[in-house]
Amino acid sequence: MMMETIQQAADLLRSRLPETPTVGIVLGSGLGGLADRIEAPVYVPYSEIPGFAVSTAPGHAGRFVAGQLAGKQVLCMQGRLHYYEGHSMQDIVFPIRVMKALGVETLILTNAAGGVNTSFSVGDLMLLEDHINFMGANPLTGPNDEAVGPRFCDMTFAYTPALRELALQVAEKQGVALQKGVYLGYMGPSYETPAEIRAFRTLGADAVGMSTVPEVIAASHCGLKVLAMSLITNMAAGIEKKKLSGDEVIEIANQRAQVLQNLVSGIIAEL
Ligand code: 6GU
Repeated sequence: MMMETIQQAADLLRSRLPETPTVGIVLGSGLGGLADRIEAPVYVPYSEIPGFAVSTAPGHAGRFVAGQLAGKQVLCMQGRLHYYEGHSMQDIVFPIRVMKALGVETLILTNAAGGVNTSFSVGDLMLLEDHINFMGANPLTGPNDEAVGPRFCDMTFAYTPALRELALQVAEKQGVALQKGVYLGYMGPSYETPAEIRAFRTLGADAVGMSTVPEVIAASHCGLKVLAMSLITNMAAGIEKKKLSGDEVIEIANQRAQVLQNLVSGIIAEL
């Protein structure tokens, strides 16, 4: 039943897209600029796709951009849904499942995150090696459609080891420093308290954000290869003696977006 809804959305997209995409991209807050580098772009607003919920988060466009990037056919989500917007986990991961149905094999996700590891600096890029799901929900709860994926989904290699290796190689070639670490997904929309950040550091988190975890779980479930990277837009609460602001997140994201875009393009070229 779930597969039927996915196929309906995939059919609509297929009728609009020039070619079959093999790489899916999800762009984080303030990081939507990569979509502007797509050649011969075709835009499909989420509002025109059956079964799609529409995003309200700041810095998010809310559409698919399809076309060629670094020699590959890509399907890019310019804007994603967040749990804090009140969307269901199932709605958040629906586009990921549609990408899989369309023929996407590799999913690349970016996000803006707060630095929890005190050796990180604002503006750092971090390769996700693993995550901690602290969102209080999982997109795979409820009835499972075996046509989509298995009831119990292994997460051991969710962040595809070969893609992580490739990302590190490309970063080195480009002379871009790339941190590695564990991303903790937090429900939000309030930022964490200093005590929560200390607790999360003890739990093994290096960065904290409000996205990515649901998508990675659904991507693993349906058999996509996954690469994810965070831009550290600010240090998390209590690390620096100042308040956190959503405006600063967008500002740093805009400042460092180019570097992340070059890295993602360079990785896609080598896929
Ligand atoms: Cl400090 N926390 C969360 N949850 N998300 C963020 C962030 C912090 N900074 C950017 N995004």
